[in-house]
Amino acid sequence: MKKDIIRLLDLDKDDCERLFHRAIALKESRRSGSEPMPLRGKTLGLIFEKPSTRTRLSFEAAMAQLGGTPMFISARDLQMVRDEPVKDTARVLSRYLDALAIRSYSQALVEEFARFSTIPVINALTDLYHPIQVLSDLMTVLEAKGRLQDIKIAWVGDGNNVANSWINAAAVLGLDLALACPERYLPSDAILSAARARGAQVTVTSEPAEAVSGAEVIYTDVWASMGQEEQAAERKRIFVPFQVNAALLAAAAENAIVMHCLPAHREEEITEEVLEGPQSVVWEQSENKLHMHKAVL
Ligand code: CP
Ligand code: NVA
Repeated sequence: MKKDIIRLLDLDKDDCERLFHRAIALKESRRSGSEPMPLRGKTLGLIFEKPSTRTRLSFEAAMAQLGGTPMFISARDLQMVRDEPVKDTARVLSRYLDALAIRSYSQALVEEFARFSTIPVINALTDLYHPIQVLSDLMTVLEAKGRLQDIKIAWVGDGNNVANSWINAAAVLGLDLALACPERYLPSDAILSAARARGAQVTVTSEPAEAVSGAEVIYTDVWASMGQEEQAAERKRIFVPFQVNAALLAAAAENAIVMHCLPAHREEEITEEVLEGPQSVVWEQSENKLHMHKAVL
C-alpha cells in the first residue's frame, strides 16, 4: 500500500525512528562516498505553488543522488490553473511518476492529491503544516543532543505551519514542547487539543523567557509566512518581544542550540549575532533536509 506524508501524524514513533536512523546512515554514506542508488528508473514529481530554495533543491538533489529523476513542475504551468480538477491531475500524474511532493497554500489540495493519487504524496509545506521540515529538524536535534525525550524544546514566534508540525511531532514522539507566541498568533487550537489528548506535554505562553527557561533547543521562524506578506508590517510591530537574541538565549539552558528552518530575516525574528553565533545549528539543519528527504524517498 502507498504511504503518504501529509501530516506528521501520518507517521508513528517507529516510522520516525526508522527515518532518523536511515537519514543518519545516508548522511554517513554520502560523507564516505559510498552512496547507494536504489531509485534508478524512478521519477519524483515536485509541484510548487510557492517559492522554495531548500525543500525543492534538496528533494531534487536527493532524488538524483539516489539514482532517480526529479521533475519540477511549477504549479502555474499545469492545466490546473485552467481549472482541470485536482482529482484528474492526480490520476494522470500517478501514471507517469513514482512519487509526488507538493507545496501549496491549501492543505485540502494536498489531501485531495493524496486521495486520488496511486503514488505516495509528500507535503512539502502548506499554510497549515510543514511535516518534512520538522522530520529533518528532529534528526538535527537527535544528532546535537543524542536524544529527543527529556529535553525541553522552545518554539518562539508565530504559531504557524512549522509550529503546528512541531505540535504533531510532540504528539507522535512524546516531546516536551513549550511555545511562546503573541496572543493573536497562537497555533491551531484543534491541533493543540489533539496533541494533548494523546498525552503530549505542550505548553503555550506569551512570555518568551518562560518558554526558553531550561530549554535546550530554541526554534524560531519568520514572523510573516509565504502568503502573509500584506500583514508583514503589522506583524513586525507585534512580534518584537519574540525576537531570538542574545538576551533571550541567556535565559535558556547554557547548552541550548538555536534552530531556524530558513529563510531567516536578520534583526527581525532572530539577530545576526545569534544566527551566526556558536549555538546556531542552522546550516547543519538545512543540510539535513537532503538526508531526510532521501530517507523519506
Ligand atoms: N525551510 C524551507 O522549507 O525552506 P524553503 O522554503 O527554501 O524550501
Ligand atoms: N513559515 C514559513 C516557513 C518557510 C519554510 C512559511 O510558510 O513561509
